[in-house]
Amino acid sequence: MAYRHHVECQLDTVESAVSRGQTPMPETRIDLRSDTVTKPTAAMREAIANAEVGDDMSGEDPTVNRLEAMAAEMFGKEAAVFACSGTQSNQMGLRSHCSPGDELLINETGHIANFEAGGPAVLSGVTVRTIVAADGKLDIADLEGKIRADNQHLCVTRLVCVENTTNSGGGKVYSLDHLERVSAWVRDHDLKFHMDGARFFNAAIAGGYTAGDVGPLMDTISICLSKGLGCPMGSLLVGSREEVASARRSRKLFGGALRQAGIVAAAAIHAFENHIDRLAEDHTNAKAFANAIAEIDGVCIDPNEIETNLVFFDIAAELGNASQLVALLKQKGVIMGAAGPQRLRACTHLDVDQSDVLQAAGVLQDCIAEGFAELVGPSTGPYARG
Ligand SMILES: Cc1ncc(COP(=O)(O)O)c(C=O)c1O
Repeated sequence: MAYRHHVECQLDTVESAVSRGQTPMPETRIDLRSDTVTKPTAAMREAIANAEVGDDMSGEDPTVNRLEAMAAEMFGKEAAVFACSGTQSNQMGLRSHCSPGDELLINETGHIANFEAGGPAVLSGVTVRTIVAADGKLDIADLEGKIRADNQHLCVTRLVCVENTTNSGGGKVYSLDHLERVSAWVRDHDLKFHMDGARFFNAAIAGGYTAGDVGPLMDTISICLSKGLGCPMGSLLVGSREEVASARRSRKLFGGALRQAGIVAAAAIHAFENHIDRLAEDHTNAKAFANAIAEIDGVCIDPNEIETNLVFFDIAAELGNASQLVALLKQKGVIMGAAGPQRLRACTHLDVDQSDVLQAAGVLQDCIAEGFAELVGPSTGPYARG
């Protein structure tokens, strides 16, 4: 009741702000858009403040060097290199394996294929061949027959990319068996194997394995520091000495070689030491959110499908579309993303707890009860064009 009163007061404020032509600023703000929205904790900020730094482009930043050594050791690889973002790190990885005219194989939902601004083609002259397979994953049956013959008409199949956890694939986790199977197939066919592990540690926690279990199965792995681990920026690419040296050159070419990067590497070391095990809480909160919204008429979700911190759900078309629902949720201080015409994504992270996600589920219920489509009016959002 107190909560409903709180929301109604906020709506009054929102409406009067709108009538004054201002952007409304609701008091409640539960941001479930992504795990990238986290802000560094006080302890992480202290680690940043105390970081020893040097010129990383000359290999002289002791904190970056320590972080890279930690990552390489964790994954049982020879080397690691710090990158500005997951996109940069993926693109550095694939460029270390491929030459112009080569092709990579990836699930059709893969980030590398869809959300990296055409990076493989633009930065490395690489063709992306997308494969339709369940949950954003790839298995041997999906890959069989996809390696192109040695023929002057064809590009050269060079690389297989997997995403773990899958993002648009639904936050799903590859089991260790599955990775072992695909890795053996990739090696038998003399291809290279890259993992987009933007949320690798979510996968490891949910899948019950370690970085050391997965490292030997892959040629390169990119992990993001700025997602579930809660750092302000950064990614790491791990691989062989040779691949990482090549990736370092690409990082320079892509404009991502930094100077006193120890400032951000210190945050990552803090996250490795403090923020990995707690990812299990994000998974529990995601499940609690999924269970709560599964009770709402017009919301389509199977909570048993939720494996990590990403919750995708669909909204019945007769109620309105995802973009309209996202708009009303935002006016009420709950932020989620439209992931398709009827599909929304909510993501749990370090900066939201169980009471936040349950409150967000309540606001979602209110939006549906109030008739969000009529309140918001026509909107197709970023995923549909007339
Ligand atoms: C699976 C996956 N790979 C790569 C990235 C790219 O990371 P960044 O935003 O740091 O470039 C993301 C970001 O959301 C992602 O979800």
